[in-house]
Amino acid sequence: MFFGLTQRLAEAGQSHLLQFWNDLSPEEQVDLTHDLQGMDFKEISGFFKNAMETSGSSKHEKMDARMEPVPREVLGSVTRDRESLKDWELVGLQCVSQSKVAALLLAGGQGTRLGVSYPKGMYDVGLPSHKTLFQIQAERILKLQQLAEQKHKIKCCIPWYIMTSGRTMESTKDFFSQHNYFGLDKNNIIFFQQGMLPAMDYNGKIILENKGKLSMAPDGNGGLYRALGNQGIMDDMERRGIKFIHVYCVDNILVKVADPAFVGFCVQKGADCGAKVVEKTNPTEAVGVVCKVDGRYQVVEYSEITLATAEKRSADGRLMFNAGNVANHFFSFSFLRDVVQKYEPKLQHHVAQKKIPYVDTQGQLIKPDKPNGIKMEKFVFDIFQFDICCNADSQDGKDTPTTARHALMSPPHRWVLNAGGHFIDENGRRVPAIPRDGAAGSVTDDGNRK
Ligand code: UD1
Repeated sequence: MFFGLTQRLAEAGQSHLLQFWNDLSPEEQVDLTHDLQGMDFKEISGFFKNAMETSGSSKHEKMDARMEPVPREVLGSVTRDRESLKDWELVGLQCVSQSKVAALLLAGGQGTRLGVSYPKGMYDVGLPSHKTLFQIQAERILKLQQLAEQKHKIKCCIPWYIMTSGRTMESTKDFFSQHNYFGLDKNNIIFFQQGMLPAMDYNGKIILENKGKLSMAPDGNGGLYRALGNQGIMDDMERRGIKFIHVYCVDNILVKVADPAFVGFCVQKGADCGAKVVEKTNPTEAVGVVCKVDGRYQVVEYSEITLATAEKRSADGRLMFNAGNVANHFFSFSFLRDVVQKYEPKLQHHVAQKKIPYVDTQGQLIKPDKPNGIKMEKFVFDIFQFDICCNADSQDGKDTPTTARHALMSPPHRWVLNAGGHFIDENGRRVPAIPRDGAAGSVTDDGNRK
């Protein structure tokens, strides 16, 4: 058995992973063997090769030339579609009342930027109530179920699928159990786990974070699709009769979970796939932009757009690529099933260059001060390209805390401009004055931005 493993490692060019074998305790040896045995080195080196080939700055420059903004006519918006908003909500609420809508939370991230060691959803943002993100979301689900039940006089449920990763699964589950599932039925909260991938150096060697442990990270929020298939989640959805799924991120405090207006909008359009967007106003704002690349809808991530393209402006002074992705997606069940069954292997990994702590050949832990390797991640929105009619009309919008904030802030904004002042962005660069076209709330914005 062990011989088979050393041979596999040698064939894959990964024999260095056993270089400290004799220094390990028997328990550490068992753990390392277990981790290595579960790995498909051929697949991993294929991922590495593809990811490296398709990344690189020249690729981004080339992509910039192929990007076009989302045509205005395919967006639904706050002001233009105020009349339709009520209809969308009615349609969405009806779908909820028929128990056709599920919420799917992406909570497998590591929370590195937030700087917490526990799952982000357990974070207390400092509200007077001290509610955590998980609690806020759970209460919104509960409330929406009640609203749908009251309106349609029928008992319904919104199953809540929660994707965690190897690092967050146990603590997330414990947290829910300790809090009695925040009043929801525990049978309708389904936890599942995404995959992990090793961090690699630029030569494709897997990095050891200590003598007996590989440096592993979740495989990106697009790891969702593989996990949906291999954890039986699509079957569970089918059993429950789910037809529409709202996918969102854990750190969005404003999120309207299973938002009936968004769901209703997509259902009414017959869309298989939708995304909420908020106007991006600052070129360096860390949001992806929904746009077209080679005629197909796509999100170009903030880490992958060049500054020159991010700064381009249209004749009206607004950013040309301003459909800011707020990571709220809608998928029909049938589209999601096709993705899981057919398209998932076609999704490319994106490369993030990172400073990855490693042990050197002497067994010393080194914390590099510049990037020394890569992590590979799939992105949740990369499946837009597979939907033939996606893309249509994905912006929902209405009065929300964000539009309220804009409304509150725009008069002072105008006073400053009228008095000859200007604003600078976080890089000290002057932000061009954006002419407002009158009516408050005319900026398309759905408020579900983090
Ligand atoms: C994300 C979007 C970005 C958007 C921004 C809006 C992606 C890839 N990027 O960026 O386009 O403008 O939100 O706020 O969606 N997660 C996992 N597993 C992982 C990695 C992440 O479940 O392996 C989850 C996180 O827990 C989080 C969500 O995905 O809920 C977003 O991940 P994060 O890395 O924070 O993306 P952002 O940089 O916020």
